[in-house]
Amino acid sequence: MAPDPLVRLEAVSKVFPGGIVGLDAVDLDIISGEFITLLGPSGCGKTTSLRVIAGFESPSSGKVLLDGRDITALRPFDRPVNTVFQDYALFPHMNVAENVGFGLSLRKLTSAEQAKRVGEALDMVGLGDKLRARVLELSGGQRQRVALARAIVCEPRVLLLDEPLSALDAHLREQMQIELKRLQSRLGTTFVMVTHDQTEALSISDRIVVMNKGRIEQIAPPATLYDRPATKFVASFIGTMNLLQSRFLGRDGERLRFAAGDLPLEATSDNGETPAAGDTRTIGVRPEDLLAAAEAADGTAPARVSGVVFHGRTLRLHAQIGQGTSVVIDAPRQAEGFQFNVGDVAHISLRRGANCPMLSA
Ligand SMILES: Nc1ncnc2c1ncn2[C@@H]1O[C@H](COP(=O)(O)OP(=O)(O)OP(=O)(O)O)[C@@H](O)[C@H]1O
Ligand SMILES: [Mg+2]
Repeated sequence: MAPDPLVRLEAVSKVFPGGIVGLDAVDLDIISGEFITLLGPSGCGKTTSLRVIAGFESPSSGKVLLDGRDITALRPFDRPVNTVFQDYALFPHMNVAENVGFGLSLRKLTSAEQAKRVGEALDMVGLGDKLRARVLELSGGQRQRVALARAIVCEPRVLLLDEPLSALDAHLREQMQIELKRLQSRLGTTFVMVTHDQTEALSISDRIVVMNKGRIEQIAPPATLYDRPATKFVASFIGTMNLLQSRFLGRDGERLRFAAGDLPLEATSDNGETPAAGDTRTIGVRPEDLLAAAEAADGTAPARVSGVVFHGRTLRLHAQIGQGTSVVIDAPRQAEGFQFNVGDVAHISLRRGANCPMLSA
């Protein structure tokens, strides 16, 4: 049985003035102690979801529950929830310790207690030696850490992070991803992060919520999302995926046999559905699950190479099979001392044991 959720969104919709739909009947359970990420394209409702959880936005319909208690009408300040905003929103005229202590100053704590907790929070983010530093003297990564310290110092049950790393350069961003994950494990606090960067979501999250047009498409751990996307949208949003219109041939036990033109494919069905003979379905095939060889063999289909892109360890081949269906293949560079060039015919086949999902619309 799934554990009781810490936060539950129950059929939450948000319609903004002018009829713009921000959220459309969203159901979401957030489990205590997890690092969950909301991922999706611009405008899909990520920030609106966070604002509804924080209480800055009230749903047009539906409920927000915390520990089973209806908090839909509770003001932001009365919720055990803190937010780290994208621009950090630090006070430039205050030093680091004053910024972090700001949230605490509204509570009934002695100044000694306050100072102790500010020190601990800053140690936690590796800025224990910057108490007196002015915010304007800090680097982007350091400001980001001050914002984090300010959010955790109040010991919220839930920490909401809206694109917290988007202002950082690629290198610092990767480093902060590791630190954020480490901090979350150490605190045991529930983190809900928003990003539109799929790599970031995959590397940091326990579970990912993929959103599209105000709705949830799929909720799953990163590996499940990558290996078994439920919909075409998820499949094309997470990594690169060939979406191949394929004819159903028959079933061998768990394996569903298909053909995309001349290319034999095997797929799995998560819902146990067996299509009727001759039906077409969209099969998702990862570029690394297609093999390219110089010679034809059993189970291969010819593909005309239209582009070769250097990706370091692999070459990415763009090719056409059958009636101009485009496919992308990642081939190891050192394969058989063979290099494909534009105009060559590559004989492609599905890697044995590849796990190809059958996708719904
Ligand atoms: N205050 C508002 N008034 C009117 N429409 C709004 C308001 N806030 C959000 N919206 C609309 O609701 C939808 C969802 O917006 P939201 O900010 O949640 O998207 P998002 O997923 O966070 O996007 P981004 O990645 O660009 O930040 C969008 O169509 C947006 O234009
Ligand atoms: Mg947003």
